[in-house]
Amino acid sequence: MTNELAVDLDLRPLTGSLGAEIGGIDLSARLDDQVIAALRAAFVRYHVLFFREQDLTPEAQIAFGRRFGELDTHPFVEGLHEHPEMIEIITEPDDTANFGGGWHTDVTFLAQPDLGSILYAVDVPPVGGDTLFADQHAAYRALSPTMQAFLSTLTARHSAGSQYGAGGYSTRSRSMRTKNAQTAAEIVEHPVIRTHPESGEKALYVNPAFTTGIVGLRAAESSALLRFLFSHATREEFTCRFRWAPGSVAMWDNRSVQHYALHDYHGHRRVMRRITIAGDRPR
Ligand code: SIN
Repeated sequence: MTNELAVDLDLRPLTGSLGAEIGGIDLSARLDDQVIAALRAAFVRYHVLFFREQDLTPEAQIAFGRRFGELDTHPFVEGLHEHPEMIEIITEPDDTANFGGGWHTDVTFLAQPDLGSILYAVDVPPVGGDTLFADQHAAYRALSPTMQAFLSTLTARHSAGSQYGAGGYSTRSRSMRTKNAQTAAEIVEHPVIRTHPESGEKALYVNPAFTTGIVGLRAAESSALLRFLFSHATREEFTCRFRWAPGSVAMWDNRSVQHYALHDYHGHRRVMRRITIAGDRPR
């Protein structure tokens, strides 16, 4: 199937909400600017793009990522020695603190969270280990106009404390080397509804991993509202689910999706390499 972008991509939408699988492109090659522009337009429109049967060295993955902007380094996870902007997400068969199991948007605990992430599968379990994505524009659109207007007046607090602070969930992983736990509890504030800087569309912008409260509400009000929003944000009709194989790539727009790494592969190894593209301050 083709689409109406300047370059015809071999693009198959995955669901009625988000996600598209793209064929016929070798991400390790130096792609034409027009192809990159078409990929970027598809990225903004479908929010998460999937590619299969790629063969990416760390250098090739980084070079592809740089076509979309500067790359960030993770503030709380050690990058590869030779490539600090790349982290490996490894789950060993006998890991007791398993990676995944929570919906989130990457690094919303930063003042300028990443624009997007590019994840490459090196080693995947024989079954399981899928990643789910949820469209936060669709989540916003499904709210009543009254709720949309109310949420548009609100700001939320975000922090990495529960994940990367001392004893935090991710610090217990045997395979991921975390760092800087002493600064993980710092708070940043973002609007509860963010406007996508490229499409102008509004999106719900809170997530259960990093959003800790709503500014100006009492604790009980804040937790009741967040409980509703966290569950609303990931309603089945806003989601898609990706089955990995070695060489698969997912590239998601962090300004419009949440994602969830499913840990249902006990006793098996899963190895992914991730880079992130620097983003702007949510508005
Ligand atoms: C991530 O949360 O960034 C990685 C998701 C995954 O490993 O499936």
